[in-house]
Amino acid sequence: MQLRRLGRSDIEITPLGLGCWQFSGGEGLVGSFWSVVPQPEANAIVAAALAGGINWFDTAEVYGWGNSERSLAAALKAAGRANGDVIVATKWWPTLRTAGHLRRSIDQRLECLDGFGIDLYQIHQPASISSVKAQMNALADLVAAGRIRTAGVSNFGASRMRASHAALAARGLPLVSNQVKYSLLDRRIESNGVLQAAKELGITIIAYSPLAQGLLSGKFHDDPALVKTRPGPRKWMGGFRDRGLQRSRPVVDVVRDIASAHGATPSQVALAWVVQFHGDTVVAIPGATKARHAEEAAGALSLKLTPSDLARLDEVSRAFL
Ligand SMILES: NC(=O)c1ccc[n+]([C@@H]2O[C@H](COP(=O)([O-])OP(=O)(O)OC[C@H]3O[C@@H](n4cnc5c(N)ncnc54)[C@H](OP(=O)(O)O)[C@@H]3O)[C@@H](O)[C@H]2O)c1
Repeated sequence: MQLRRLGRSDIEITPLGLGCWQFSGGEGLVGSFWSVVPQPEANAIVAAALAGGINWFDTAEVYGWGNSERSLAAALKAAGRANGDVIVATKWWPTLRTAGHLRRSIDQRLECLDGFGIDLYQIHQPASISSVKAQMNALADLVAAGRIRTAGVSNFGASRMRASHAALAARGLPLVSNQVKYSLLDRRIESNGVLQAAKELGITIIAYSPLAQGLLSGKFHDDPALVKTRPGPRKWMGGFRDRGLQRSRPVVDVVRDIASAHGATPSQVALAWVVQFHGDTVVAIPGATKARHAEEAAGALSLKLTPSDLARLDEVSRAFL
């Protein structure tokens, strides 16, 4: 399997990782977005991802205030993996905190990860009391102390991303990634300068919500009543309401058409487009509430879209640029 370098680091990752927000245990405002995934199911999800060749996992402090990190670590252990066998990315929650908290809370993060090291530590989003420079200096201190391997950000716009890159460069380190929303139904990074800056600076874009939170599987288009059966806010979100489904239907139709030509599923086509359309710059972290989702996602690693597939998908999703 073709691995990609994470930014300008020596870490090699599969084009798809597994997003672990779904392992939040329903705790906290952010964690209550998804139904609770019991630990045996989390074990099966992680095992399916590993069996399909996925070599990295993305979690965060705010995903159930440590629940997701603990659940991921337990699932990796259940699958017989130890520190160093897989790549683990987690995130620090910056809201109402100063950069000093990054240094003070690292032991807690490592404790939740129960023996797995932090290969990538990301600032979860831009709202923080401290400046970008102070936060990057704190991350650089953690790298220097051997507590984390690399530094990244998430939800940063182009100028903040450039400033983060410059602050780390002053410490002799690369900013390896920016984790942002990106899919066939949300292509804003192509027009707001983020993707361009990432290409220029050798920063990997980690695409989150690459399935538009399940929309690109087509299941909500087939059965719009399904969304009401899901806990959490999807039922109130524009994309999941009738008008939203109408707007995305042409994209889903083309995704389906291409999927049937390849003997693949719509989700696999949607994921393959995200990680193939811009060469090696974009990788993605689909989430899963069931083992078969992870199995399907991993299957997308071996789906090669043709130039004509990529162009058709580009064309039909231009309304979402
Ligand atoms: N940095 C950030 O601010 C940020 C924000 C969001 C997400 N993330 C990260 O990105 C990851 C993925 O994003 P996401 O969870 O928002 O969205 P996503 O990956 O686009 O969608 C995941 C959801 O879609 C459904 N699904 C997945 N595979 C499917 C399949 N094959 N068939 C049918 N339905 C399927 C499942 O939901 P149901 O079964 O419930 O329908 C699953 O929980 C997260 O786990 C998290 O690690 C980061």
